[in-house]
Amino acid sequence: MNIRLTKSEKQVINEVKKVAHELELETYIIGGFVRDKLIGRPSKDIDFVVVGDAIQLAEVIASKHPKSKLAFYKNFGTAALSLFDYELEFVGARKESYSVNSRNPEVKPGTLKDDQLRRDFTINALAISINKDNDGSFLDPFNGIEDLKNRRIITPLDPVETFKDDPLRMLRAIRFANQLNFSIEEETLKAIKSQAERINIVAPERIVDELNKILLTDHPSSGFKLLYKTGLLPHFLPEISKLQGVETKNGLSHKDNFYHTLEVVDNLCENSDDLWLRWAALLHDIGKPKTKRFHPKHGWTFHAHDLVGERMVKSLFKRLKMPMNEKMRYVQKLVRLHLRPIGLAKEEVTDSAIRRLLFDAGDDVDDLMTLCEADITSKNEYKVKKFLNNFRIVREKLVEVEEKDKLRNWEPPIDGDLIMKTFELKPSRMVGEIKTAIREAILDGDIPNEKEAAYQFMLSKGKELGLTTKM
Ligand code: CTP
Repeated sequence: MNIRLTKSEKQVINEVKKVAHELELETYIIGGFVRDKLIGRPSKDIDFVVVGDAIQLAEVIASKHPKSKLAFYKNFGTAALSLFDYELEFVGARKESYSVNSRNPEVKPGTLKDDQLRRDFTINALAISINKDNDGSFLDPFNGIEDLKNRRIITPLDPVETFKDDPLRMLRAIRFANQLNFSIEEETLKAIKSQAERINIVAPERIVDELNKILLTDHPSSGFKLLYKTGLLPHFLPEISKLQGVETKNGLSHKDNFYHTLEVVDNLCENSDDLWLRWAALLHDIGKPKTKRFHPKHGWTFHAHDLVGERMVKSLFKRLKMPMNEKMRYVQKLVRLHLRPIGLAKEEVTDSAIRRLLFDAGDDVDDLMTLCEADITSKNEYKVKKFLNNFRIVREKLVEVEEKDKLRNWEPPIDGDLIMKTFELKPSRMVGEIKTAIREAILDGDIPNEKEAAYQFMLSKGKELGLTTKM
């Protein structure tokens, strides 16, 4: 087995090799870099395992390269070094066992094989020597290369032990399976099912990192189906697992919103790489279980699931310690608005409805349309064609009205200050009322989106409210 290194990879590895030889430290390249090289995935992270003092190795390399950046964690015996555009990590080979209720490891120095044994999967336990006596040879005691060939995720140890050591590995197994299109070996999969509850001791940030990686694959649905099948999903995304299920009353069934959602996410991934738009697709229907009703005449309804979903996005982001900033507001906005274009596609589209959508969605209107198009999951080709065509018309109308009215990032032509000055008002409800009336008149198309028209409208509105002008 051979791997071909690029010029820059050789350069950075040679720097490490030189110093390792000087210090006579037994050193290996290990983990993701070796795996990715073998399957032809580019990687800028290289992990080294040192049978001895990993921090010393990193420090001496750093001292020879003033531009490199070094950070080390004495307690763990690990160091991270940025060198020539690569992120290098140095770990001391160790035997490690984790206490049952926390992630704090009890670390003891060990051999290379001890270290490989405590890694997560055989495909991540492959090592390449950079030592004088066996430079370039593979050390693969658990048949990782075979497993790479067979596209198989399997743990070097008894999987229950491996997952007890670090329950995040259960999620990593699913993420790797999804990213690399591998399958998870049967016993390993069984162990995920039996240990699923232990995911609760893992910090939400680490869970979200893995979820993001799953969402950024080409077909996140396979990852989410595995998360569901193994029983992991309800522990961190109960909102999504609750979407599963079909209820039938009076012979009427609603669709399974879990599988529908996954189809939407996959559809969307064909048209967008954006992580947050993908999150919006995943969360767009989370308001459905709470709003589900059966009406003898109309069948199943999910009234206001858009608004309920919008609120749930906030608590979900908070619970998972996701960013509570414009990213969250963007996801909220798309969840809130995801039904609007459907409404516009059904009826005769009025300019006023289009203006309102432009006003509410702003710059995110294209993303919203992409989400709505992905939301079409009918199996009936005729229907799909019809809906897509309707959305095409909505998109054309959006462009047309935007060109005319410039409402995408609307700034009101008359602000509160001018209203107060004109009518000698203090900040009050009346000022807001006039502002709203101007906005509504523009959105309804009663007046154009221009300063002079809005000014005249303001004067007449003031008059109507019994206000007098100073001027
Ligand atoms: N590792 C592990 N258990 C974990 C995390 C990491 O055993 N919970 C080991 C694996 O050997 C892994 C290596 O540490 O290959 C480096 O971890 P990391 O950089 O997180 O993952 P990669 O395998 O490099 O993959 P990716 O960059 O795609 O996350």
